[in-house]
Amino acid sequence: MEENIICHCMDVSEHEIVYTIKNNENVNLQDIMTITGAGRGCGSCIPELEEILKREKEKMNS
Ligand code: FES
Repeated sequence: MEENIICHCMDVSEHEIVYTIKNNENVNLQDIMTITGAGRGCGSCIPELEEILKREKEKMNS
């Protein structure tokens, strides 16, 4: 499966981010950054992390 890399600085894939959201109750942006390392370089991927978090939470609540 082709990996969609969200954070190029830290080489974190969308799959890793979604997995983290699904496996940690009430996860927030800071938790995602701490757990996966995403967003801890240049920071340009942070809006995308927020988008994924929002999207996955909506899925979980529907
Ligand atoms: S791309 Fe994620 S911190 Fe730079």
